[in-house]
Amino acid sequence: MDRELHAMLDELQRDPYPHYARARAAEGLTYVPELDSWLVVRDADVREVLRRPEDFSSANALRSDVMPAPAALAVLAGGFGGRPVVVTADGALHQALRAPIVRGLSPARVGAVLPYAAERAAALLDRFEKDGRVELMAAYAGKLPGDVIGRLVGFDPADVPALVQGGHRLEELLFRPLTEAEQIAAAEDVVAMSHCVDAFVRARRADPQEDLVTDLITSVAGPGDAELTLDQRHELVTHLQNLFIAGHLTTTALIGTTVLHLLRHPRQWELLCARPDRIPAAIEEAARYDTALQGFRRVTTRAVTLAGTELPAGSPVLLAFGGANRDGSRHPDPDDFDITRTAARHLSFGLGVHACPGSTLAREQLRITLELLTRRMPGLRLADDQRIVMRPTLIHRSPETLDLVW
Ligand code: HEM
Repeated sequence: MDRELHAMLDELQRDPYPHYARARAAEGLTYVPELDSWLVVRDADVREVLRRPEDFSSANALRSDVMPAPAALAVLAGGFGGRPVVVTADGALHQALRAPIVRGLSPARVGAVLPYAAERAAALLDRFEKDGRVELMAAYAGKLPGDVIGRLVGFDPADVPALVQGGHRLEELLFRPLTEAEQIAAAEDVVAMSHCVDAFVRARRADPQEDLVTDLITSVAGPGDAELTLDQRHELVTHLQNLFIAGHLTTTALIGTTVLHLLRHPRQWELLCARPDRIPAAIEEAARYDTALQGFRRVTTRAVTLAGTELPAGSPVLLAFGGANRDGSRHPDPDDFDITRTAARHLSFGLGVHACPGSTLAREQLRITLELLTRRMPGLRLADDQRIVMRPTLIHRSPETLDLVW
C-alpha cells in the first residue's frame, strides 16, 4: 500500500464514523479504496452477510494492511504459526476448530476464572488508587485482559506480559507502516512469543489437564501424550496466539472506550455511580456506541447482489459492525451515547457461525471494572490537559492513552 493510501487509511481508522454515515446514505454499497473493500455498513446488510457464510467466506477476515518486507518474513519463518485459524476458516474446518474454543469458554470455565479476574482487577487498582492520577490504558486496561485470558488458557503468569507484548507487535507488523528495521525487530518479538507458546503446548501435551489447551491439543493431535509433530505444533501455536490476541486486545480496547465515553458524559457516570444496577446496560451501550472490533472482512464465493450492488465472485467486503451499530433504523439517535436507552441488539460481538465465543468473558471483565471504579473512585474524571487520540486500527479501537484524575 502506498504512503498516500496509508495516510488515508490512518485517517479513516482513527475516525471511521463520517465514512460510515456517507456509505449508509449512499445507494447500494460503497467501494473504499483505502480499505480495498466494499463497505457493508447498514445493520440489515451486515446481518445478511453474517447469515450467508457459504456466499461470504471468512478466508480474508484477518487480511493484513501491510505485506512485511522479505527480511521480516525470513525472521518469521524461524517461528511457529501461520496456519488457518478459527476466524479465517469456513464450513466443516471452521466447526472443527471452533468446537474446543467454545468448550474452553463455556459459562462454567468463564465462571471459574472470574474470582481471579476480580482479584487481579482490585490489585491493579490498589496500585494507583492513592495517586490521584493514572494513565488507565497502561496501568489497568492493557493488563487485566491478558492476565485473565492467560489464566484461563493456563499460561505461566510470568510469561503473560511478553505474550501480551508479542500480540501488540504482531498487530504492528501486519497493520502499521514500519521501516524494515522496525519490521525485523517486531518479527523477532513475534517469533519469541511463538516459541514461548510452543514450549507451553509441548509441556501440556506431556501433562494433560482439564483445560482449554488440553482440549485444543486433543482436537488437533488426538488423545494421549504422543509427541506432537512439527505441523501440529505450528497449528496449535497459531490457534493459541490467535485466541490470546482475540481475547486481550479487544477487551483492553473496550475497557478504554467504555471509561472514556462514560467520563465524557459526566451525568451518565454519576448516574452509574448512583445506580450500579445499570452497569450491564452501560456495557451494552458502550459496546454499541464505539465497538472495539469495528469490522472484519469477507470475500464472496460466487456472484451475489447485496443492497442492490452486484459483486462478482472474489469481491472483498468489509463488514462494519461499528457502522451497523450507528444505523438509525435499528438504534434511534444512534450518535448519542445514552446508557438509559432501550437497547436493541447490536453487532459488536458479531452474529451467526463466527459470533464471538468470548463475549461473556469480555462482558464480565467490563462488569468487574465498572463495579470497582464506580464504588471506589466515583470522583473519576478525564484529565483536562490531554488530547485524546484514538489508535489507528479497525480491530482494536481504543484511545492510545487515557489520563484520569480524581
Ligand atoms: C470486547 C471484547 C471483544 C469483542 C468486541 C469481540 C468481537 C468479536 C467479533 C465481532 C467476532 C466475530 C468476527 C467475525 O464475524 O468475523 C469475534 C470472534 C471471535 N472472538 Fe471475540 N470479541 C471480544 C472478546 C473476545 C474474547 C475475550 C475472546 C476469547 C477469550 C474472543 C475470542 C474470539 C474468537 C476465537 C473469535 C472467532 C470465532 C469464530 O470465527 O468462530 N473474543 N469477536
